[in-house]
Amino acid sequence: MQIFLDTANIEEIKEIASIGILDGVTTNPSLIAKENRDFKATIKEICDIVKGPVSAEVIATDFEGMIKEAQELASISEYVVVKIPFTYEGLKATSYLFKKNIPVNMTLIFSPNQAVLACKAGARYISPFVGRLDDIGHEGIELARQCQDIIDTYGYDTEVIAASIRHTEHVLKVLEYGIDIATLPHKVVLQMMKHPLTDIGIEKFLSDWKKFNK
Ligand code: E4P
Repeated sequence: MQIFLDTANIEEIKEIASIGILDGVTTNPSLIAKENRDFKATIKEICDIVKGPVSAEVIATDFEGMIKEAQELASISEYVVVKIPFTYEGLKATSYLFKKNIPVNMTLIFSPNQAVLACKAGARYISPFVGRLDDIGHEGIELARQCQDIIDTYGYDTEVIAASIRHTEHVLKVLEYGIDIATLPHKVVLQMMKHPLTDIGIEKFLSDWKKFNK
């Protein structure tokens, strides 16, 4: 499983990258707005740290606007992946960008039907939103599993990014289902490291060592 960080916060990215476990980053307009910094400068800085796929989302909703923004974003760094929301226009733009060799992450995927169309249009990644489906009473992780099944069954050259991940239970399911990538909030990566028995074990080793070294 590849680990992407779902944030535009430079400190969070630097911290997780410094551990040596970071494969990529996803951002979205809400995450960028939260940082209150220049969009393109932020993406450039993230790319320079990660040196792996960094998703930057278009704001335009029409085909021409999406293409224009996608080309501008792609020129920031070789690591930029253009994030395009799943719409009729977005699908056309993805297909066009595929032919221009610009990688696309089709985002806001909420059904297997959308997923297969995104794969056929040449999306490099598809992002099913797990947590937002949970929020409306669905089993969001099931969609991520279905997306992975479609790709494995038909051999599309697309990877699944399980997105909108809220907790470590989601991560366990991503692992169980063999989903390619999970994009995680910083706090979920930290939660993954925790186990009370590890802490208790360290305490016991250290106290035994102290007794022995009196
Ligand atoms: C994915 O790329 C999105 O940025 C993200 O996972 C959205 O998650 P949210 O539902 O927590 O906003």
